[in-house]
Amino acid sequence: MPPNEEHEEHEAQPQVFNAHKLQPARKRRRSNSPGRSTPKVSSPAPSSLSAKAHDNTSPNTVASNSVATSGAQQKRPGKRARISEAERARVRARQQDEQDRVAREQEARASHGGQGPPGSLHDVVKTHYNSVPERGRDWRKTESKIKGLRSFNNWVKSTIIQKFSPDEDHTPGAMERGIQSNNELLVLDMGCGKGGDLGKWQQAPQRVQLYVGMDIADVSIDQAKDRYRDMLNRGGRGGRGGRGGGYRGHQPRIFDAMFFVKNCFAESIEDMDIIRKVGFSTGHMSSARGFDVVSTMFAMHYAFASEDIAKQMLRNVSGALKKGGRFIGTIPNSHVIGEYVEKFNKELEEKRAKKEMEKVSKPAEEGEAEDGEVEEPEADPTANWGNDIYTVRFPGPTPADGIFRPPFGWKYNYWLEEAVEAPEYVVPWEAFRALAEDYNLELQYHKPFAEVWETEKDDREFGALAERMGVKDRRTGELQMTPEEIEAVSFYAAFCFYKVYI
Ligand SMILES: C[S@@+](CC[C@H](N)C(=O)[O-])C[C@H]1O[C@@H](n2cnc3c(N)ncnc32)[C@H](O)[C@@H]1O
Repeated sequence: MPPNEEHEEHEAQPQVFNAHKLQPARKRRRSNSPGRSTPKVSSPAPSSLSAKAHDNTSPNTVASNSVATSGAQQKRPGKRARISEAERARVRARQQDEQDRVAREQEARASHGGQGPPGSLHDVVKTHYNSVPERGRDWRKTESKIKGLRSFNNWVKSTIIQKFSPDEDHTPGAMERGIQSNNELLVLDMGCGKGGDLGKWQQAPQRVQLYVGMDIADVSIDQAKDRYRDMLNRGGRGGRGGRGGGYRGHQPRIFDAMFFVKNCFAESIEDMDIIRKVGFSTGHMSSARGFDVVSTMFAMHYAFASEDIAKQMLRNVSGALKKGGRFIGTIPNSHVIGEYVEKFNKELEEKRAKKEMEKVSKPAEEGEAEDGEVEEPEADPTANWGNDIYTVRFPGPTPADGIFRPPFGWKYNYWLEEAVEAPEYVVPWEAFRALAEDYNLELQYHKPFAEVWETEKDDREFGALAERMGVKDRRTGELQMTPEEIEAVSFYAAFCFYKVYI
């Protein structure tokens, strides 16, 4: 994933959001332990955005990926080569072995923490993000082939930041009486990339006091530092024409920011100086000290390489949050992935059955095979889909029912025009939610991007913001994206959890 991402401050600035629209944090109800099995929830009713997206493509627009089988010889052009039943059985057995091997490897990865030798996934991800060029704001606004997608993703991120960085006073009765804390926010951005969200935080409804950005890619962290310096030089305006200054019309004043090169999913952040200073809770009890918001935008899918990494990531998030604090983010939508995978496997099974039928009705004539004319059945393709601007491709077999069990280690390769070409991992939603509850994180909000659009596009604040960001046509109200971009953004969902009071 990800995604889109993109490091873009918007020219248009959101109006102050009334954080008191939010549900106050509640005491948690305990739920079942994280999904060893992952019950599938049907995807939400298609909104116009998702409906358009799915109308437009079938899940197989990408050339199929085949598993290589050894010893295949070329068949003679124009003549169908034939093989004996015994040969065919041997080939089938080899194919089965290959599939079993891939499945075993996948299982081993799931239980032993990731791809290949320790650290290799992180090296791949780091190398990739370090090599993505920073092309500058003007290029992104004018030349980019995915400018509609970039703006839309930025609008979703702004909306989530605005909605869930509330000014809440947690003293008893304060919420009911509409009392605001006047606290300044402490924000931890895990997988902050090049600092694309700095401007968005500058516009948060509550003023940010400290922003801590962490990322595994050192070049990205350098670029984030540059971006922050630029912000300081511009005197606090979030972007061109930015209002700056955030909550209740305060004068622009830039928050303090610190940046760290850190693998904040696989490694503990507890011993970092700044984390200790802000406060980190290790036990089961929530603490009044800690960050107000932890954000992981288009990054958390890297943590689902293994159960250990996913748990370490949640330990970091939960430990760093104060009670009532929010954990917000955007991730690939596992329901969408599951639907594509299920459809793919169903079609594959139908093709297999058809082939079998043909064999029965037209058995190969024994003894006709000529020397060197062994035809091996083609290896099965693996699940893949996409369009001209993005592709998803699983390297091995996927579950026939589209339900990912166990919920870790399901690698796919994701490519997005101009932005990403890296391995990612499915984040099976129900398993993630259940696991989060074990870390005292209670779900407050979860919506596919299509639904975020449908529910917020006419909101006074967020609808107007969408217009200013060029996401929505001012005259017609239409979404400003190509069908390919709409399909690509429909791959994602946004969420917010809060740290319960215990
Ligand atoms: C698609 S980018 C998103 C960047 C930023 N959050 C945004 O929305 O613009 C994903 C980021 O996650 C970072 N990342 C991946 N694995 C990480 C890890 N284990 N620890 C910290 N950062 C990681 C990558 O280096 C990359 O910068």
